[in-house]
Amino acid sequence: MGLEKRGHENSLNDFDMKSGSAKVLGIVGSLRGSSLNRSLLNAAASLFPNWVKFEVFDIENIPHYNQDVEDSEIPEIVKEFKRKVRDADAILIAAPEYNGSVSGVLKDALDWASRPHGDSSFEGKPVAVVIAVSGRRGGFSVLNHLTLIIDYLDAKMVGEPVLVQLAPQKFDKQGKLSDQETLVKIKKLITDVVETLLNCKMVPTLLP
Ligand SMILES: Cc1cc2nc3c(=O)[nH]c(=O)nc-3n(C[C@H](O)[C@H](O)[C@H](O)COP(=O)(O)O)c2cc1C
Repeated sequence: MGLEKRGHENSLNDFDMKSGSAKVLGIVGSLRGSSLNRSLLNAAASLFPNWVKFEVFDIENIPHYNQDVEDSEIPEIVKEFKRKVRDADAILIAAPEYNGSVSGVLKDALDWASRPHGDSSFEGKPVAVVIAVSGRRGGFSVLNHLTLIIDYLDAKMVGEPVLVQLAPQKFDKQGKLSDQETLVKIKKLITDVVETLLNCKMVPTLLP
């Protein structure tokens, strides 16, 4: 695995791990070109140490979930999505709130990934959540619903989800996160994800 501790400080960035020794898959629940959720996901992703390979799976072309399609032939893109989820050591979801819940595209992607029964790709998977909403009071409802879904998928919520309200005021024109309070929360969340990755990567090396 090539895992060594550098120096004496106990920093999560302080481990020498081979580049790409852990994988995190990003999923954005908004298809909008200038999605604030995508910007939030990018801000979070930029904080991973360089031994974490981060990749976004674009869910735009995942079809609506349909059990008839599943029973005849699972679409290639769904198979690829499930492979990527399975292959990832952790998942980072950026979820908009649509009418008090999860966006349809995100729900379809999660439903496909959970199927067929007994072959869910999310089982046991660490999942971190960030949410950006434009209003000052929104986001709690989608967080509730997504928490229930993650639980239902037998996945594990990692860290404290980050909810960003009044999101248009918290990014600059280039879509870069400019709000320091949000940055602190995101750093804490990513630290928790990295700690989870380190735990699951280090345990096998400690076994006889
Ligand atoms: C169909 C739709 C429903 C929405 N419903 C809510 C909502 O329930 N609560 C909320 O806070 N914002 C709601 N919004 C506003 C979103 O928070 C805002 O558009 C946000 O920027 C969407 O995320 P995005 O920038 O990643 O596309 C809704 C927006 C759309 C398009």
